[in-house]
Amino acid sequence: MLKLAVLGSTNGTDLQALLDAQVGHQLGEAEIVLVVSNKPAAGILDKARRVGVEAVCIEAATQTDFEHQLLNMLQRRKVDLILLIGFMRILSDEFVRQYDHKILNIHPSLLPKYAGGMNLDVHAEVLKQGDAVTGCTLHYVTEQLDGGPIYGQEEVAVLPGDTPQTLKIRVQAAEQKLLLRAVRELADKP
Ligand code: GAR
Repeated sequence: MLKLAVLGSTNGTDLQALLDAQVGHQLGEAEIVLVVSNKPAAGILDKARRVGVEAVCIEAATQTDFEHQLLNMLQRRKVDLILLIGFMRILSDEFVRQYDHKILNIHPSLLPKYAGGMNLDVHAEVLKQGDAVTGCTLHYVTEQLDGGPIYGQEEVAVLPGDTPQTLKIRVQAAEQKLLLRAVRELADKP
């Protein structure tokens, strides 16, 4: 069984798709065992709790404290893979090295385009630049911000009249597709 932890700071829309799959026994040999946020009011925590998945907020004063507590939780639960879903914090180089090729981040653009951008800001920039196509990227997290090896990408067409919000909805649908595929594939790996 591939044990997953999810880190997120926001609403966690993509997590819901993974939880629905888990509840419906559609996640293959994978299980989300822990959801962690750095924000107590983050909707991602409620989503997990609603289906009985352990959800914890770590409100540590410093980055070192946060990662120390996080590491303890991950090790105690023997987590194999960490998914960053709307996690608006940068993990330290030291932490990332300990989970080499075991942290995946979902980013709302076709990297390397708009690396370093966050959430709606990325979609606003896509519209400002007049791009016809955008999408999302699932990539391994390394010391280089949004620069780790790419697991997969999904394209999304930009439509006339799109706003950052409408674009976000369609890009997140693509994110969910990519995340579900990756989790199933990685869980199937011998
Ligand atoms: C994620 O779906 C992803 O597109 C983006 O934030 C969204 C959070 O959505 N992630 C990043 O920008 C990470 N750098 P939410 O409001 O549904 O939680």
